[in-house]
Amino acid sequence: MYQASNPISSEDFKAYYKLRFDVLRKPWNQPLGSEIDKDEDTSHHAFIKHNNEVLAVCRMQLNSPEIAQLRFMAVDPKMQGKGLGKIIIQFLEEKSNQIGAEKMILHARENAVRFYKSCGYSIIEKSYLLFDEIQHYLMEKKL
Ligand SMILES: CC(C)(COP(=O)(O)OP(=O)(O)OC[C@H]1O[C@@H](n2cnc3c(N)ncnc32)[C@H](O)[C@@H]1OP(=O)(O)O)[C@@H](O)C(=O)NCCC(=O)NCCS
Repeated sequence: MYQASNPISSEDFKAYYKLRFDVLRKPWNQPLGSEIDKDEDTSHHAFIKHNNEVLAVCRMQLNSPEIAQLRFMAVDPKMQGKGLGKIIIQFLEEKSNQIGAEKMILHARENAVRFYKSCGYSIIEKSYLLFDEIQHYLMEKKL
């Protein structure tokens, strides 16, 4: 019933970045704009839009021709635990595969490690601490 696709219109992108901000930045009192980085134009963006509402977002970037990375994964809190995260990750894994990537990596927030494990990712090492409190773990999966 839910399907991932690519945001296209400026309206789509506005809602896409808003969900990213609301889920991944606002709860830590980060300023508007902190949800966007220098690699947006060269990355692949995916979202789940349903009844004109953006419910889940994620971004994939190519770090090298073989290595893709997922970033900014966020599901609307009222829709978490309903399979949307898994749908959007599969969509971006397929896209990465099509363009020749052999491995997907990501830095998982501690609260999301079990989610990524259930999507087939393994922990490689403890990585950075975001906003002085959110521990991240480098994880990877062969595509
Ligand atoms: C983490 C997050 C992306 C997961 O997306 P979701 O849509 O809620 O997850 P899904 O419903 O697709 O879950 C897929 C699987 O992961 C499991 N899972 C999801 N969240 C989990 C959690 N917190 N703990 C344990 N398992 C979890 C589900 O049980 C499900 O397992 P199954 O396929 O074996 O039944 C989402 O909850 C979220 O946006 N959280 C807040 C922001 C965040 O932490 N983003 C990640 C940044 S790295």
